[in-house]
Amino acid sequence: MELLLSGKKAIVTGGTSGLGKAIAMAYVQHGADVAIFGTNEERAMQVVSALEKNKAQDSQKITYVLLDVSKTQDVEKAVKELLDQWKSIDILVNCAGITRDALLMKMSEANWDDVINVNLKSVYNLCHALVRPMMKARYGKIINISSVIGLTGNPGQVNYSASKSGMIGFTKSLAIEVGSRGICVNCIAPGFFKTSMTDALSEQQKSAILSKVPMARLGDPKEIADTALFLASPMSDYITGQTIAVDGGMLA
Ligand SMILES: NC(=O)c1ccc[n+]([C@@H]2O[C@H](COP(=O)([O-])OP(=O)(O)OC[C@H]3O[C@@H](n4cnc5c(N)ncnc54)[C@H](OP(=O)(O)O)[C@@H]3O)[C@@H](O)[C@H]2O)c1
Repeated sequence: MELLLSGKKAIVTGGTSGLGKAIAMAYVQHGADVAIFGTNEERAMQVVSALEKNKAQDSQKITYVLLDVSKTQDVEKAVKELLDQWKSIDILVNCAGITRDALLMKMSEANWDDVINVNLKSVYNLCHALVRPMMKARYGKIINISSVIGLTGNPGQVNYSASKSGMIGFTKSLAIEVGSRGICVNCIAPGFFKTSMTDALSEQQKSAILSKVPMARLGDPKEIADTALFLASPMSDYITGQTIAVDGGMLA
């Protein structure tokens, strides 16, 4: 197998679960050093152990950092410490995300703030901490995990869809700012994938979702990982500012 990310160093937020874990796995299998960021130590240790077993080369470094990605100073400190050890970070995947669903009239301020802070402010935090070193290195791949809900909207999710649309606008603006420095910034908009986020849905909600998916199935996290691998690899070096929907045809 050709190693697409040999020698590259990646941060994957939300790498302790679901889509982020699948992305971290694909990167490790393709030769990258990977740091996963999350809050749950038990899960982080389990994922690191699984990643260790899938290394393509013995020399690859795998680590985890426990932090809340919405906390600007904690992110700055963690990124600085990692840069001190690794000297550079080539790939950033912003995948950490939460839902706190409610119709707007019943949505508390805390549920609005939490979703915006974890899903969107985190993207500012991570990108802000990494944009200078990436510009200096004249290389970087930033991949933001948005959602089809950021493109379509969904009742009960004004906070979530605003955060995910916000990621798309952020991506386009940053792509224009840093394009001349060899940094690509793109979004993936997943449809519905089998993870703990969608396991929380009722059977009724799941069948309502499936009725909107032309391919008539939930996605496999590996199918997001394949797209995130493409966007992290040299195969996508002339693609920036884009949002790729990986959704079984939902937006067709
Ligand atoms: N599954 C889908 O169908 C789907 C569809 C569209 C978009 N997405 C997006 O894909 C991303 C991953 O979703 P998923 O389905 O894989 O969900 P998941 O299994 O619930 O994973 C969410 C991840 O986010 C991390 N996280 C949550 N809050 C955090 C915080 N404050 N600080 C640091 N990390 C935090 C969690 O880490 P800890 O548990 O360690 O804190 C976990 O690793 C999300 O951004 C989601 O919006 C998912």
